[in-house]
Order: sequence, then structure tokens, then C-alpha cells
Amino acid sequence: MAEVLEILRQAVRPGIMTRELDAVADREIRRRGGIPVFKGYHGYPASVCVSINDQVVHGIPGERVIRAGDLVSIDLGAAVDGFVGDAALSLFCGDPPNERALELLQVTEASLYRGIAAAKVGARLGDIGAAVQTYVEAHGFSVVRDFVGHGVGRQMHEDPQVPNYGTPGRGLLLKPGLALAIEPMVNLGGYQVEVGADGWTVTTRDHSLSAHFEHTIFIDEDGPEILTAIS
Ligand code: MF3
Ligand code: CO
Repeated sequence: MAEVLEILRQAVRPGIMTRELDAVADREIRRRGGIPVFKGYHGYPASVCVSINDQVVHGIPGERVIRAGDLVSIDLGAAVDGFVGDAALSLFCGDPPNERALELLQVTEASLYRGIAAAKVGARLGDIGAAVQTYVEAHGFSVVRDFVGHGVGRQMHEDPQVPNYGTPGRGLLLKPGLALAIEPMVNLGGYQVEVGADGWTVTTRDHSLSAHFEHTIFIDEDGPEILTAIS
């Protein structure tokens, strides 16, 4: 997972078509013995999601050409030996367009690690969401409500749902053996989003920029272990 994401990150350059990234993702997942789990998921037609600028998540790769200054979010899922990993990252193609956009990306990534750090045995789901939300909102950004993280296992989406907002001490008690995908989606403007005419692409309602970072983690007594990082 991590290797393929890194390959995709390096493939992002001005002039590349998003469908070329999909071809790379599909090839590199299979080359490593994995199965792309997005393809065919509720009819989703590709192996990766590529979401640009005001697109939050679930952008379908196609003819769109990436330009210098675009904020590109890449989301990847693969099954290896029957178990799913789900991970995402955002990056700028070339230089960020302005300081606030760069801050959005940095805060979103850092918020993921805040959420992961909160995912300890004995803590609750609300502690994860609160850790993400508090950090994001302290920087003046907003957390998407309509899409959330999730349990992961043999299926990509398992219980529980893992919101990126919440109340400390509330929600499901975290126990050893739980695997979760934590995935803050953070908007520069308002938290509201809408789904496009293709039935998939989620965009910010106010067309502000949005960033997305995700890891699959495994919770045990030693703390959260990131399963989708380079080992
Ligand atoms: N990675 C997304 C998630 O975490 C799933 C993408 S939707 C799909 O929920 F249809 F592309 F699979
Ligand atoms: Co996910």
C-alpha cells in the first residue's frame, strides 16, 4: 500500500491525466500480489480515487489533466492475503498556490496522526473524532461530516463508523484487535459537501479546497500500529 502510494505521489506532475494514475495504481497493486478493492465496489469503475482541489473524495480517474498548483488527493485500497488496507494522501502538483492551501494540507495530515494517537485500548471512538476535530478547527478549517472512517478487515468497510468529529469519552470502547481506517477530510471553507452528477465525486459546496489523509491502523495493547505505512 505504502509503496504504491509513494509511486503515485511521484507520478503526479503537470500534464498527467488522472486515468494514467489509475493505470499505475492497478498495475502496482497487482504486481505486489494485491487485489484493488475499489474496482467494482458498488459499481465504482477504477482502482484508485483521484480528487482535485474542491473535490473531497471519490473522484473517478478519467480525462482530467492535472495542472501545476492543483491539490491532488489519492485514495487507494487493496486486499492482500484476504485482508484490506485503505490509505490516502494529498499533495500539491508543483508548488502550493498559496500559504493557506499549504497549511490545509499540513493540518489535515497532522490531524490524522492526532486521531491515530487517540486510538488506544480503553479510549473511545469519540476520543479519535474529538482529537481530529479539535486540531482542525483550532486552525480555522472544517471537518467533513457526511463521510467518515470505518472498521477494516476482510471487507473494506466494516463496523464501526469512525467520524472525524466527536465528544471525548463517548462512543464505542476501543479493544485490542480492532482495525480501523482513520481518514480526516478537511475543507478550507465550510464543512458542507455534495455528490456530483456521476454519483461519486464529492465536492465542497463552497468550492473551497479540500485535503484527505488516511491510514489503516491496528489497535492492540502496545498502542495503535499503522498498517499502511512504509515498514
Ligand atoms: N477509500 C474510500 C473509503 O475509505 C473508499 C473509496 S470508495 C470506492 O471509504 F468505491 F472507490 F471504493
Ligand atoms: Co477508507
